[in-house]
Amino acid sequence: MVRLGIIGAGGMANAHMDRYREIEGCTVVACCDVVPGKAAKFAQDRGVPSSYEDYRAMLDHEALDAVAVVTTDATHAECSLEALGRGLHVLCEKPLATSLEDALRMTEAARASGRINMVNFSYRNSAAVQGAAAAIRAGAIGRVLHVEASYLQSWLVSREWGDWRTGNHLTWRLSTRHGSAGVLGDIGCHIYDMVSYLCGDIAEIQCRLRTFSKGEPNEMVGEYALDANDSFVSAASFCNGAMGAVHSTRWASGQVNSLRARIYGDGGAIDVELDRSWDEYRTCTGQEAIDRHDWRTEVCPPSPNNYQRFITAIQTGCPDPCDFAVGARVQAYLHYSQESDRLGAACPIRMTAGYLAGGPLHVA
Ligand SMILES: NC(=O)c1ccc[n+]([C@@H]2O[C@H](COP(=O)([O-])OP(=O)(O)OC[C@H]3O[C@@H](n4cnc5c(N)ncnc54)[C@H](O)[C@@H]3O)[C@@H](O)[C@H]2O)c1
Repeated sequence: MVRLGIIGAGGMANAHMDRYREIEGCTVVACCDVVPGKAAKFAQDRGVPSSYEDYRAMLDHEALDAVAVVTTDATHAECSLEALGRGLHVLCEKPLATSLEDALRMTEAARASGRINMVNFSYRNSAAVQGAAAAIRAGAIGRVLHVEASYLQSWLVSREWGDWRTGNHLTWRLSTRHGSAGVLGDIGCHIYDMVSYLCGDIAEIQCRLRTFSKGEPNEMVGEYALDANDSFVSAASFCNGAMGAVHSTRWASGQVNSLRARIYGDGGAIDVELDRSWDEYRTCTGQEAIDRHDWRTEVCPPSPNNYQRFITAIQTGCPDPCDFAVGARVQAYLHYSQESDRLGAACPIRMTAGYLAGGPLHVA
């Protein structure tokens, strides 16, 4: 039985809890949160035996095998490094860190520890994403040439997830001082991961970030300065020669949480649209279908989610590919996106070979 502790008892901790409950062979024995009483309430509501207000106390007192780091972004590095240092396996929330330097430190520490380390890029849980990636690797659309990918949310205009003006779970996401890298860090990391998982490593990024006025006095809500970016548009060049447009915003009325990638090759196209289906993607391949602009739906078999793969990796000792190195590579995309915006120029992605996925899509 894998004994788990959850660090951070906010919204996403509930998703972790729901998933671990479904998995045989693991149990959540403790949770913690720095907000007084929050972990205790979470423990009571979710049937977790112990709760703490300091994650180090939890690590001191509980005989854990692994932790899930589900804190606000700024503390992912500190909590993960502490847990790895104590010989625990770690599933860390995305983005892996708030700086490339921290992401690289975490990856080196994870490698040195020999423990299972994963980053929770949750859209990899989709059978459609898994199926589309396998099809592209198998050559279903020929040479990958052009990609368009977007991740759109609307919570700055819609109240579907609450009102960000009230100092709730959304507000820290608007403030750099509270550890947010804006929409780029929050969901840009998902779309960069998805597009590079589908199409291969990115070689160069030219990005524009924008923070639009939200109409609050001095662009503040309480202690939160509303200075984090809320839209970005990137032109990406891939190592295999393909190019792509990647963008995200929190201002997309009519889109709750909408992720889409369309990939065009010299032998056809693949369209992954998670709003439409989590398990199906569409293809336009074969000369006849291409001539008629005819799309076919591919139904994908179920694939294990990140949480299941984390527990399996611990049980078998076989590392999972969605590891901290993947998180660090995506962190490099975030870092060079910010650099590109700052410099007003395209930035090459400088990563050593140990951080690149390589593989059949990688021809540079
Ligand atoms: N994988 C996904 O699809 C997905 C979806 C949503 C959120 N997330 C990520 O999950 C993380 C948490 O997001 P959330 O929506 O639950 O945010 P949240 O603000 O609701 O919860 C975060 C919690 O962490 C606690 N915390 C902060 N520092 C801590 C520390 N040092 N020790 C213990 N607790 C600490 C906070 O008090 C808060 O309760 C973020 O990194 C976010 O990016 C991932």
